[in-house]
Formats: sequence, structure tokens, C-alpha cells
Amino acid sequence: MKALLINGSPRPVSNTKMMIERCAKKLEEQGVATEIVKLGNAKAHGCTGCMMCLKNKDKECVIKDDVNECIKKMVEADAVIVGSPTYFGNVTAEIKAFIDRAGMIGRVNGFCFDKKIGAPLVAVRRGGAVPVADAINRLFQINKMIIPCSTYWNFAFGLKPEEVANDPEGMENVDDLADSVAWLLKKIKA
Ligand SMILES: Cc1cc2nc3c(=O)[nH]c(=O)nc-3n(C[C@H](O)[C@H](O)[C@H](O)COP(=O)(O)O)c2cc1C
Repeated sequence: MKALLINGSPRPVSNTKMMIERCAKKLEEQGVATEIVKLGNAKAHGCTGCMMCLKNKDKECVIKDDVNECIKKMVEADAVIVGSPTYFGNVTAEIKAFIDRAGMIGRVNGFCFDKKIGAPLVAVRRGGAVPVADAINRLFQINKMIIPCSTYWNFAFGLKPEEVANDPEGMENVDDLADSVAWLLKKIKA
């Protein structure tokens, strides 16, 4: 059982990072192996619509950057947690690049993400977190993946780095999500 956790914040110390690391720790405690990848501030080109993925069908994008490396890890993982800060009510540019390119790779390769678990984690100062979670969930929904639930919509409040630690309900939501992911993974892999 392996979970890939993607940190879409460009900041070296950040709220998304804190949520992702907390989620990974909780998953590890329940016997799930984890890998964290930082996509925020990585080399992340947007989808060019070249449709070479449809021709090649090799579970890779022809743009050989960090997004492609992340897609390759997603192919191997049983669960993927995508974390993003809220940027003007949406995901960061790096996460959008990942959504578009991973979304295509999954679909043109016989839905190779079918039955993998997918969940969002969102850091937000004040407003716009729900559309961020929705944008990430749409990647999962169009790729036959399974979205586990939690006790809210998987966001925590904070402006300055690590301020989400002062949002106990947000942190509890992260723990509850990790619990659901681990429970579901055990059922699927039984
Ligand atoms: C370019 C940019 C746009 C932002 N847009 C929003 C927004 O629409 N709503 C909001 O509540 N916070 C917004 N914020 C604040 C961040 O979402 C918030 O600080 C978050 O905790 C950052 O996550 P991080 O620490 O993981 O990078 C924005 C921040 C930046 C830099």
C-alpha cells in the first residue's frame, strides 16, 4: 500500500506542506508507505494539447519535466493526495499543470488510474478553498478514481507559513482524511 502526496505550494515552509506531512505521518502510523513530492516551484509546464500521449500510450507525457516524474509516481501509487494553496480561488499553476497532464495520461492509457484513491488537501487564508478541492476532485472523478470522505472539505485556515497549526478543526480534518484513506486502502488491497 503506497500513497503519493503532492505538495503544490511554492513556499519552502508552508501550510500545504504542513498538512501534507501530517497526512503522511498519520498514513504511516496505519501501515501505509508514503512518498511526498514537492511540485510547487518545480519545473511544471502546462499541457500543450499536442496529443502525443494518445499516440504513444506509454503512461508518460512527452514533456520531460517534474510533472512527468510525478505522473510516473502516480502510476505506481495506490493513493494520491494532492495538496494546493488557494491562489485566487484556484489551484497553483503547478497543480493545474499536473491536473491537465495527469488527467490526459490516465484517460489515454486505458484509465490506468482506475480504482486508485484520490483526495485533495487545501490551504487557505479566508475564501475560495472549496473550488480548489473541487478542481482537484475533478481529476479523480474523470479518471474512475475513488474519493474518500472526511469531516469537512479538506481545508485548513492560515496565511503565514504553518499558521494552519492554529486551526484545530482543519488539522482534525487532515487526520480524519488520512484515517479514511488508510481504511479504504486496506479494504481495496485485502
Ligand atoms: C497569489 C496568491 C493568491 C492567493 N489567493 C487567495 C485566495 O483566493 N483566497 C484566500 O483565502 N487566500 C489566498 N491566498 C493566501 C494563501 O492561500 C494562503 O496564504 C495559504 O495558506 C498559502 O499556502 P502555503 O503556505 O502552503 O503556500 C493567496 C496567496 C497568494 C500568494
